[in-house]
Amino acid sequence: MSGDTSEKTLGIDLGTTNSGMAILENDEPQMLQNNEGDDLTPSVVSFGDDGSVDVGKRANSLAAERPGRTKREIKLEMGNEDYEFVVDGTEHSPVDISAEILGKIKRDAEDYLRASVSDVVITVPAYFSSDQKRNTKRAGEEAGFDSVELTNEPTAAALAYGEKQGQEIDGTTLVFDFGGGTLDVSIIEIETDRDVPEYEVKVAEGNNELGGRDFDRAIMEHLAGELDVDGADPLDDPEIEENLRKAAEDAKIDLSTNEETEVVKSYLGIVDGEPIDIDTTLTRGTFEGLIADELDAVRDEITKAMDDADVGAEDLDMVLLVGGSTYVPAVRDAVEEETGVEPERSRDPDQVVAEGAAVYGEKVNIEAGGQEGGDIEGKPGDIDVIEVIPASLGTRLHDGSFDPIIEGNTNLGNAHGTEYYSTVEDNQTVVTIDVYQGEDPVAENNTKLADFRLTGIPPMPAGKPQIEVTFYVDEDGILQVEADELTSDAEIEGEVTEDITGTKDEA
Ligand SMILES: Nc1ncnc2c1ncn2[C@@H]1O[C@H](COP(=O)(O)OP(=O)(O)OP(=O)(O)O)[C@@H](O)[C@H]1O
Ligand SMILES: [Mg+2]
Repeated sequence: MSGDTSEKTLGIDLGTTNSGMAILENDEPQMLQNNEGDDLTPSVVSFGDDGSVDVGKRANSLAAERPGRTKREIKLEMGNEDYEFVVDGTEHSPVDISAEILGKIKRDAEDYLRASVSDVVITVPAYFSSDQKRNTKRAGEEAGFDSVELTNEPTAAALAYGEKQGQEIDGTTLVFDFGGGTLDVSIIEIETDRDVPEYEVKVAEGNNELGGRDFDRAIMEHLAGELDVDGADPLDDPEIEENLRKAAEDAKIDLSTNEETEVVKSYLGIVDGEPIDIDTTLTRGTFEGLIADELDAVRDEITKAMDDADVGAEDLDMVLLVGGSTYVPAVRDAVEEETGVEPERSRDPDQVVAEGAAVYGEKVNIEAGGQEGGDIEGKPGDIDVIEVIPASLGTRLHDGSFDPIIEGNTNLGNAHGTEYYSTVEDNQTVVTIDVYQGEDPVAENNTKLADFRLTGIPPMPAGKPQIEVTFYVDEDGILQVEADELTSDAEIEGEVTEDITGTKDEA
């Protein structure tokens, strides 16, 4: 690497299974190859007993011999405050492990570009909660990027399609993004034939716990049932589990092009001192039976998105398939049946998200934080993106019910709301507000984002203070909270006691 700093913003698709990176070159998004010469880097991190850390392809191949030291699918733990991956007594948080992946991608990009890279756009599932997004942003900062912006995966995919020369798209577009661990279904109104192209997201629906890994799981359990072992569940053995996972994924991928596949491994692991193997056949029909529940869940998300956007099959102009799990024929059939549109898949479904992130980094304007006084993220760019928040943001009331302050699918430009609170005891100087995201009327059934603690309230009789709390969502889709006590000029300090939403400096 020379001493130069690249002017370019790197786009990164930080995936559950694979991550990719792209830049804008001559106005066209371009994937960058990693140091192994591949477009995709497995999102796998392996910790050696000498303190070394391997990321990507090498970590992937070390997984079977290093069970318990190798972490895959860390994205599924993002925002889970209770999760730590412990190796030799050292705790690695989801943010730390994601930062290892982003760090390798940054180094490889710098080697490729022969310049240091300081600015990045990282994609997240649109359906990620505010704290999952915030933690992703933090991982980017921990990886050493100076400027970290986030954008939503389905929006990025639409941008990659829309901004590729000679491939203008227009109209009401359903983006079906089904990867290794997450499903996003977004409906985006695209207008490219105007001075400033506009991408307006109408709804973002999804399921952060549904992906190709669930197909692998279903096959693994089926294969485990065929093994010649008594008693203990072979999947409890980490070596067998890892080897069967690999066999299951290979079989699944093979079944995307073949009606039948051989599952043959001469060694899976040891049971009762004996090596065990597998030699069986799996048909596409059997596989489809194994994933029937997942396919139903996929259909439900599509229906829900179309209902919420009030869009029928006749209103859809285009359906884009994104993510490796859209290679599964039964998935494609489900999408076509539910939408009534033959899906577009002219582009590589596991590259479009990174490509769109690069477009976003260089060209997009986004408005957020409410109409007045909010943050308008301005770029010399020439594309307008209008995003929505995927799920309602609100607080828990005394009776445990959920009080939404900003409704789900609200446009980011309008994503602000104000609520008033007071004290219940005389001379109470501290009020705690529990912040949740979700759609359930019972607060506890939603995702808790923070305990927001307001301190410095001047001593007054109960009920006298008027505490004005303002929620707004910034351009990264992250909730920010501000608070004021209106009857005095006392400065209220806001402190997040469960460190999730990062509102400390704002209040
Ligand atoms: N040909 C194929 N047939 C079936 N499944 C495939 C095929 N190729 C890849 N996959 C599956 O696609 C998934 C990975 O897709 P992708 O790389 O889009 O996910 P990701 O971006 O890592 O995950 P996410 O977007 O959920 O965070 C894996 O489950 C993989 O097994
Ligand atoms: Mg993905």
